[in-house]
Amino acid sequence: MKEWTTGHPKVDPVTGEMILFHCTFIPPYIHYSVIPTESASNGVYGASFTKLLNKPVPGVSGAKMMHDFGVSSNHTVIMDLPLSLDPVNNLKGLPVVSYDSSKPSRFGVFPRRDPTQVRWFETDACCIFHTANTWDSLDSRGNAEAVNMLACRLTSATLVFSAGNITAPQPTPKTVTKVEKARRPSFFSSYDAEFQSRFSDPEKSPETRDESTESDYLLLAAHSTTKIEPSLTDADDEQCRLYYLRMPLFNNPSNHISHQFALSAVPFEFPSTHPNLGMHAARYIYGCSVSTSDSFGAALGKAAKIDVIMKMDAHALLARAEQRPPKSVTGCVDTRSVPEVLASIDPCDSIKAFKFPPGIYGQEPRFVPRHTNTGSPEDEDDGFLLFYTFDEAQLDDEGECPLDAVSELWILDARNMKDVLCKIRLPQRVPYGLHGNWFTEEEIKGQRAVERVRRLPEMEEGGVWQSVRRRLIKAVG
Ligand SMILES: [Fe+2]
Repeated sequence: MKEWTTGHPKVDPVTGEMILFHCTFIPPYIHYSVIPTESASNGVYGASFTKLLNKPVPGVSGAKMMHDFGVSSNHTVIMDLPLSLDPVNNLKGLPVVSYDSSKPSRFGVFPRRDPTQVRWFETDACCIFHTANTWDSLDSRGNAEAVNMLACRLTSATLVFSAGNITAPQPTPKTVTKVEKARRPSFFSSYDAEFQSRFSDPEKSPETRDESTESDYLLLAAHSTTKIEPSLTDADDEQCRLYYLRMPLFNNPSNHISHQFALSAVPFEFPSTHPNLGMHAARYIYGCSVSTSDSFGAALGKAAKIDVIMKMDAHALLARAEQRPPKSVTGCVDTRSVPEVLASIDPCDSIKAFKFPPGIYGQEPRFVPRHTNTGSPEDEDDGFLLFYTFDEAQLDDEGECPLDAVSELWILDARNMKDVLCKIRLPQRVPYGLHGNWFTEEEIKGQRAVERVRRLPEMEEGGVWQSVRRRLIKAVG
């Protein structure tokens, strides 16, 4: 690919297709591909499984830092969020990566094989790095009447800085303006006066500017090895919660998002489901959390010390939301804190938590089913959570990690979220903050050599602009 590609391509467990998108700095900014399995490519399953390569997704608002997306059985959701990654920002006096909380978050929904039919749904500014699952709601005739998504929605910049090991500006006490009140919760808290003055938005007239939104621009270009730990001033501005969004497709000419609220108030990131259910209404969502702070972003800023693994019963929480609908955008179904969830002794609690022993921290849990052909709501959690752990007792007196320090792979009973069934000592340490994944032997054997799929025919689109675009991409490499 000439473009850079999503960190989270999706593979349909039924059709075997891989779905992915690609970003560039040049309009239309996002292209989209569906790559069938090798046997499907050979026509075994008919023309509906032919390759779809580099199709433009119309309507994306600019060059964006776009990490993940949503894929249901029938639809794809592209997330055009106000976090730009654009060299043109430099010409405007802005850093290459900038966030503007005065601009909307946009969700582009289209049928899997036809991005030209994209419909854009807009809402308040936010940042989403990872989706948990995406699914269609079908009517009695089997037509998709809505697309639903569970995703980890952030209202803080801290995670962005932390992921890149980049010095973050220090939050300062917040001055709330009318604009921010209208859009609360805003994505970023305020930064210091120096940052505010440096990142004024040239796209806005002086009359419409306000000091607070000007402070929302990020400086990610200034790399530094010295990490500044963020000091929290307003927990509401540092949320990272599992959110539900529903985008109705029928009788919705204004593309209104009918539902958007958090399933729980606990911090939640690195979501994982049963591998068969990422494109369906999974009952259980697993993920990372922290017990020491209300802010996941702040915890990551302190080196991503994950000390809680969460399990959410999304069916139960959505059923509660149906009985008592939470307030749109800022609402929350289960308002308990992490300590309150940990204190629960209810075996039927819709949120279960596994707390690591003191001094031991974990990483992204991946659910591995006990049997391959499972996934019904009754047996969906019959399996294991696999994740790396690190015991900080191995650190020296200076807090540094010796060369012979090692991590472990733990296997947790996903059904009761209590029993650690196995601990495997690894030959080396695995640094914090990495994704986890699990591949079966069959999947590994089924890999294709890169050279067999990397050759791309020239894009089919004609026209002067596509020709110019191709030359531009070739010029910039
Ligand atoms: Fe990721």
